[in-house]
Amino acid sequence: MDIIRNIPDLRIYRKKINPNFRIGLVPTMGALHEGHATLAQASVKENDLTIVSIFVNPTQFGPNEDFERYPRDLEKDARMLAGLGVDAIFAPSTQEVYPAKAQFYFDIKDLDQKLCGASRPGHMNGVVQVVSILFHLVQPTHAYFGLKDYQQCRIIQTLVEELHFPLEVVPCPIIREEDGLAMSSRNVYLNREEREQALFLSQTLNAIQARRSEFSSINEIQNFALKELDKFPLVKLDYFEVLNGKTLEDLSSLDPSFQPHLFIAAYLGKTRLIDNMAFGD
Ligand code: PAJ
Repeated sequence: MDIIRNIPDLRIYRKKINPNFRIGLVPTMGALHEGHATLAQASVKENDLTIVSIFVNPTQFGPNEDFERYPRDLEKDARMLAGLGVDAIFAPSTQEVYPAKAQFYFDIKDLDQKLCGASRPGHMNGVVQVVSILFHLVQPTHAYFGLKDYQQCRIIQTLVEELHFPLEVVPCPIIREEDGLAMSSRNVYLNREEREQALFLSQTLNAIQARRSEFSSINEIQNFALKELDKFPLVKLDYFEVLNGKTLEDLSSLDPSFQPHLFIAAYLGKTRLIDNMAFGD
């Protein structure tokens, strides 16, 4: 497995790849867990060559967020990826990706108005910025994204469609710990009590989905979620929303044709966690 640290080396590597190859790209910020591994495995299986990028992208972090303390362990990540049959890691420095202050800003319309887009102003701009840079540099035929970051995945799918990137976005299912908590690089921040109470997210989504036939309005679902919240005193809710799963817009009803989708984000101490689940059969 090659570890490529700069753009000139990536360009040389890219030029040598057979033009008929299917090339899979898995963009990550490292501190890899089984969720990332599943994306890499899917890519290795479905492509002739897989490149995993590892880059903690400063432009998607807000000024008071965890950019500085975000976990970084390239050696450990590299061992995991080599074991999965990944061909190359692209792990550039910040200076390499952003040699100068960025002059272009993505002003994302409807898809950025809710959820993490609304809670973290500028975050999705940063994601789109770095992902378009990676698409231009790596020129993959297939790019793998996890549905744990559902809004991110929808925005990237739309980016690829609108800007006619010649590649296919492959959405991958959410990978969970045994007790249901969605895997995240940020789970390492949680102390024991926070880890226990983090189950609020997946348990609430599961409970709503299990009782789906009992709900006749979005309001009822919201009230149910708020009642669940009372059982988890350490949880500070950021949002709980039921939205159209395709457009991420408000719903007028729970009609299945709107593909109703549940979204949740909450703080455990300083740690912000997210989760989501389709609602209905
Ligand atoms: P990161 O949080 O490292 O996640 C990299 C990819 O792994 C994303 O597509 C994310 O959705 C997926 N992923 C994370 N946890 C997952 C889980 N439990 N199950 C399934 N997939 C999971 O998302 C980012 O990095 C960044 O925003 C990035 C796209 C790399 C741009 O900087």
